[in-house]
Amino acid sequence: MSRLGVLTGGGDCPGLNAALRGLVARAQRGHQAEVVGILDGWDGLMEGRTRPLDRDAVRGLLQRGGTVLGTSRRDPYVHGEGGPSVAATLDREGLDALVVIGGDGTLRTAARLVDEGIPIVGVPKSIDNDVGGTDFTIGFDTAVQTATEAIDRITTTAESHDRVMVVEVMGRTQGWIATHAAIAAGADAVLVPEEPYDLENIAAVIRGRAERGHRYSVVVVAEGIDPPTGTSVVAPLDAFGFARLGGVSTIVAARLEELTGFEARVTVLGHIQRGGVPEPRDRVLGSAFGIHAVELILAGKFDRMVAWRDREVIDVPITEAIHHYQAVDPQGALMRTARGLGICFGD
Ligand code: F6P
Repeated sequence: MSRLGVLTGGGDCPGLNAALRGLVARAQRGHQAEVVGILDGWDGLMEGRTRPLDRDAVRGLLQRGGTVLGTSRRDPYVHGEGGPSVAATLDREGLDALVVIGGDGTLRTAARLVDEGIPIVGVPKSIDNDVGGTDFTIGFDTAVQTATEAIDRITTTAESHDRVMVVEVMGRTQGWIATHAAIAAGADAVLVPEEPYDLENIAAVIRGRAERGHRYSVVVVAEGIDPPTGTSVVAPLDAFGFARLGGVSTIVAARLEELTGFEARVTVLGHIQRGGVPEPRDRVLGSAFGIHAVELILAGKFDRMVAWRDREVIDVPITEAIHHYQAVDPQGALMRTARGLGICFGD
């Protein structure tokens, strides 16, 4: 029987527990593998903090957001000496392979450990949907649902008060959440990192709506856009070297107020997008990924990442996750749909 370790790294998201549940269910079918849960991401692997994961330990997890293993943004190449700093735990626990459930930062670290000879299978998760090699990452769908519901609520109060409501969503340097939520909630404009913008164009949309009798507008802003020309936002870096984003919408709203004369208010949705009960799609995706990850390990296939493409679960080299960021294609169906609906990107 093989023994595999599993960790969840980076930001949490809904659907991680479904992945853990699927992984354990598959591993224990026919008593093919034992699963050791590693606590708090790479931290637990460096510090030897683990717990056994059997079928009972993952019961009732489908509906639970977050990760029962805990997670962190610590990294063996930043807070340790890379491979050697995780070797003791791998050895002590007698682990034959690791399943690493993470976003691009965690998977980049996984790929470096693979180069040091550690057998790893990656599982892509992130509300941002920005991991290369897969159409979808665990957590994205639920985040879009949460953002859409929030914008729906903001729209009714915008209308009552004749206000411009600027809603900032997460997504890091990609506009997947922003564009999906803008389409689904019927926003008037959306700013995404993939498209340059001029706030004059957004102001023109707001004025045009007012002239037609709609004295309110809803503007969705992706947290990762460049700040408006002539302004800047200071963002500290996390352990993976990513900027801690948030707050650009305040500048956007102030400018729009100046340009249009309408009162502009800001809502930063923040971590609410990472919490809550996973949508069915994230439960299914998590389950499918967990099962496929174990099957790869049982087949002796490592250095791979499980992926969802064209209605199937496949696997790709783990390096594909990090070498090809998944950005929203400006010519693709999503942006064409938004533009077809008349949503302004500010260009
Ligand atoms: O990558 C997921 C994400 O939620 C991003 O959308 C966001 O920029 C970041 O994580 C926030 O991270 P933290 O919770 O560490 O502040």
